[in-house]
Amino acid sequence: MGDELTTVVLAAGEGKRMRSRRPKVLHRLGGRPLIAYPVNLARRLGGRLVLVVGRDGEEVRRAVGETADVHFVEQKERLGTGHALAQARSACGNGSGTILVLPGDTPLLSEAALRRLVDAHRAGNAAVTLLTAVVDDPSGYGRIVREGGRVTAIVEDGDASPPQKQIREIGTSVYCFDARRLWGALDQVRADNDQGEYYLTDVVGILQRQGQPVEAVVTDDPVECLGINDRRQLAQVAALLRSRTLDRLMADGVTILDPTTTYVDDTVTVGPDTVLAPGVVLEGATVIGAECAIGFGCHLSDSRLGARVTLRPYCVLSEATVEDEATLGPFCHLRPLSHVGARAKIGNFVELKKSRIGRGSKVPHLSYVGDATVGEDVNIGAGTITCNYDGVAKHETRIGPGAFIGTNSSLVAPLTIGAGAYVGAGSTITKDVPPGALAVARGKQVTKAGWAARHKQKARGK
Ligand code: UD1
Ligand code: CA
Repeated sequence: MGDELTTVVLAAGEGKRMRSRRPKVLHRLGGRPLIAYPVNLARRLGGRLVLVVGRDGEEVRRAVGETADVHFVEQKERLGTGHALAQARSACGNGSGTILVLPGDTPLLSEAALRRLVDAHRAGNAAVTLLTAVVDDPSGYGRIVREGGRVTAIVEDGDASPPQKQIREIGTSVYCFDARRLWGALDQVRADNDQGEYYLTDVVGILQRQGQPVEAVVTDDPVECLGINDRRQLAQVAALLRSRTLDRLMADGVTILDPTTTYVDDTVTVGPDTVLAPGVVLEGATVIGAECAIGFGCHLSDSRLGARVTLRPYCVLSEATVEDEATLGPFCHLRPLSHVGARAKIGNFVELKKSRIGRGSKVPHLSYVGDATVGEDVNIGAGTITCNYDGVAKHETRIGPGAFIGTNSSLVAPLTIGAGAYVGAGSTITKDVPPGALAVARGKQVTKAGWAARHKQKARGK
């Protein structure tokens, strides 16, 4: 194009209105920190990317990743949006080209709207082309002042006169600048306003007074320009994003029984003909295959399910993998690094941790299986516990294919139970069991005929 694009993301604000100890742009939305949204957009648009971060920018850097395509600049003092952009000057190369400015707190912005803005800017000869929106409630936003249809200034909410407060066209903090005309105008911004800050919005009036053309593109979707300044707006935008995510899933063939109570991060993938019951929460890098049934109240984070997996109500999975046609729950807990093989069955009140359950194996009730490798077609009886922790270290349990573990057994690790072996109910197994053997480790039963009557007589003192 010859007209190089540099995107500058302003992400150094203190986010005072969030009343948080964390930088605003690290608050999470739809499975990502807020900062990921403008960064992903900028990466899709191509060109150079400059991020203005604050004093506590280390965490922001880590969240974005220190990749070669991002230039970080620090705004040491938070003196306003104009001051923030000024910090990016040398990282922008000081030369010609187009500078696209994005706020760090406006996550619903679409690539299409930005492309439309950049194209409109390049087509004209404007010093700046603004993205504006016409909204029902403009309070808190900068108002677009026009004379004879042309934009002459942006007036911040705190500085607006009563008639200006009536203006419903607002600035979105998205701007396309001609680099050659930007920096000089930015130098002229003064902090003589309600907040005592250097407002980037003032550049618009400065350029206009210099006789430079100022253009605006009015968005056809004002919702995508919603900024997040406080927790109420965070919740509002989260609800909008959620309903977009659910719409996308439904368009792709997922049944959602009650979208109002279903919470799916934007980062989640769900296959067609899967049914999500009410109260389902799917978070992070979760991937669900086709034709699964996810029951009421299931909560999955960073987990992978194959195809035709059934989750009965109230299963909690984190960093777990479940293969095709397995059945889980109700009420099971798969902790990180649990792996359930195809057609296996994990029943109610079962906790798995860092364990592999082989294909077709069953852990149907009330068990804890941790640090274990369980082969195929194993049956683990109700109440079985792998005693994996001796108070100092964790130890592994291995159970060979086809083994049968009787109910209420304690398997004291490290332990290996061979293929096809049996463990008698109620055993505490401390030594390896060879393949095909039976191990029973419990007190021998003693039966005393007529004992009860004798006992009662004695107790009555006769
Ligand atoms: C800003 C605009 C307002 C516009 C609104 C749209 C100004 C003065 N006002 O107001 O006209 O309608 O966005 O959402 O620009 N930031 C820094 N350093 C700072 C201050 C802010 O990097 O010193 C960053 C913030 O992290 C944020 C962005 O700039 O991502 C906007 O700042 P914010 O304080 O949210 O401005 P608003 O009050 O929303
Ligand atoms: Ca804002």
